[in-house]
This record gives sequence, C-alpha cells and structure tokens, in this order.
Amino acid sequence: MATTKDYGLGEHTFPRGWFMIADAAKVGSDKPLPIRFFGQDFALYRGQHSGKLVMLDAHCPHMGTHMARNSTSYVAQDGPIEGDSLRCPYHAWRFGADGKCNEIPYSPGPIPPAAKVRSYPVVESLGAVFFWHDPEGGEPDYRVPFINEWNDPAWVAGAYDDLGLVNSHPQEVIDNITDVAHFGPVHGSRTQFFENEFRGHVAVQRMGGGHRTLIAEGGPMLITEAVYHGPGVLITRMSGLYDSYIIIAHTPVDDGSTYVWHSLMVRTSDGKPATDADRAAARQYQDVALAAFAQDFEVWKYKKPCIQGLFVQGDGAFRLQRNWYKQFYNPRAKKQELLQTVEGVHVPRGMQPAPDTMRAESAAQLRRMMQAA
Ligand code: FES
Ligand SMILES: [Fe+2]
Repeated sequence: MATTKDYGLGEHTFPRGWFMIADAAKVGSDKPLPIRFFGQDFALYRGQHSGKLVMLDAHCPHMGTHMARNSTSYVAQDGPIEGDSLRCPYHAWRFGADGKCNEIPYSPGPIPPAAKVRSYPVVESLGAVFFWHDPEGGEPDYRVPFINEWNDPAWVAGAYDDLGLVNSHPQEVIDNITDVAHFGPVHGSRTQFFENEFRGHVAVQRMGGGHRTLIAEGGPMLITEAVYHGPGVLITRMSGLYDSYIIIAHTPVDDGSTYVWHSLMVRTSDGKPATDADRAAARQYQDVALAAFAQDFEVWKYKKPCIQGLFVQGDGAFRLQRNWYKQFYNPRAKKQELLQTVEGVHVPRGMQPAPDTMRAESAAQLRRMMQAA
C-alpha cells in the first residue's frame, strides 16, 4: 500500500474537495451509519422528523465508545436517534446535531462544556451524501458535483453499486483519466480520437471509438466525455446506444486505500417520463457499464502502486495529470502555481484530437462549472 507521501503529491495526506461519503438511500433515522474516511470515523444519520443529515465524530468523549457500531446495547436496540440527536450506546449520553451533549440521564450535575463531538456539514446531491473535506478548514471553492438532467423525468437515475474498499491510493484511480492505451486491451475499444483537458479543479477526457463491453462489434461509435468535478467524482457523458451519464465516486479511507461507488443515469429512448420498463432497461444498461468498470477495478485491486511509471510515447498525459491532482494536496495558495504548467488541451502522440464541435460544447460546460466555483 503506497501513501500520499510515496507519490509525492504534497503537504496534506488527504485531498481538498467534495467527496461522496454515503449512498443517501442507506442513511436513515433508525440507526446511525458507521463510516470511515480521511483516516477518521464518523456516525452519519438523519433526524427523526426533520430528515436532516447529521454527521458527528463517531467516538463519544465520555469513554470513547463508537456510537455507530453497536447493535446489542438496549440504547441501540430501542433506537439511538431521538429527533436530531444521537444517544451513545454505552451510558446513554445524548448529542445534538451540533455535536453538543444535551443530556446525561443519570448525572445530577451540569453538563461539562467538553462533553461534545465535532459535527460536520454534509449535503445531498445525485442521490449521494457529499462532504467538503479541506485540511485548511476553508469553504468550498467549487460547486458540489451535479448533473443538470438530475430532476428531468425523462432520465432514470440508478442506485449506487457499492464496489467497496480497494487497497490502492486514489492516484491509481485518477490515472485512468489519462490512460489512452488501456482502452484497447481492457475494454476492446478502437480509439479514434482522444484528448485530455485540465482547467482549474476540472479534468476532462474526450474519447471516441468502439467498445466491446459497452457496444457490440459493428455498433455505433461510442463517444464519451469524462469530467472530474474535483478530485473525487467522475461524471462521464456517453452517447452511443443511449444518452447516459456514468457516475464514479471515490473517496480516501486511510492513506493508501479508497472506497468506490458506481452509478448510471440514462435517458428514456422516447424522451418521455420513465416507465417501469424504462427503469428495467436502465438497470440492464447500468449492469453493462458496471461490467466495463469492473474491468478497470480488477486491475487496480491487484496491481502494485505506480509511483514513477515507465511511461513511453503514446501513453497519455500522466505526468501533467498527476501535477493537476497535486492542487488538492497542497495549500490553496499554491494552486495557481501548480496549474500553470498543466492547464490546456493535451492530445497523446499518434492520436486524433476531439472534433471541434465536441470541444465547443465541452467549453460551454466547463465555463458553467468554473462560474459555479
Ligand atoms: S462512553 Fe458514551 S456515554 Fe459513556
Ligand atoms: Fe477503463
């Protein structure tokens, strides 16, 4: 397992950015969800009547109990969430959404001010719970990942496929955005054009070609535009058989391990509001996309870390991409300096660039993403 330091990414162990931390459908008000990201444990739940998302440090300040990893205590069995508060399973101290202890059932004395845990703001978008992680404690400098068609009834949003924990540093996942040479061997594509563009917090891959997993031999050309909305969320627009978006979210768990989710949104074939048949077809298409992603995932699962890489001509802009990724591991003050050498469009040797029309559409989207920052 290689760490952030091994890759020489920067001063911070974990990157700044918006990160998916849970499938929103899995967060309820019956019990807190235990989650671990950025080397820390949290308890995530919804307020009982408010539905409000609350994320607290998992460990109780009284005696260190993990408040979301208990099923046998009567507090846990009877329902530890009361309104927006969470009760610890060990001695039943109760903490509000602000993290402050608001009841110690057996103690006649005042509640000590130190009886509190940290509470973290989280937001819901794309059916997921997102957390803004910033080692410097700053406010978000770009908008939470989004898809304009999210509320469009002619689009079907799939559930999240939980790929789970992989003992690879997120750098290995990010590398995929520049990896032009894997498309043929892994996905059976005959790549006809390929380019990357880096702008601010956004990295783009524009690609056109065949794809044996997603489209059968002799089918239409698959055109994809994969966009990193910051360091943790990749949204890929695909046109081929159907208009769709693939969402791949990955979040650091410990230094050198990553949690990964996959989902897909697809437009109904007639552009009318989705029916049950559309939803079934969408799930089938998501399974095909998942099979394509599993082809990448299997490699990551067993590979050795690529610290340097023996890159050759035609390999894609790996070094520039890794420099782009460094902006998230360094103080914001260094961001412009890091971006100076990487911003722009990069076409690998021997490849065709994306058609002008595609690049123009993409430019409009990029402008919107930058404005929202
Ligand atoms: S350890 Fe949490 S109430 Fe005692
Ligand atoms: Fe791939």
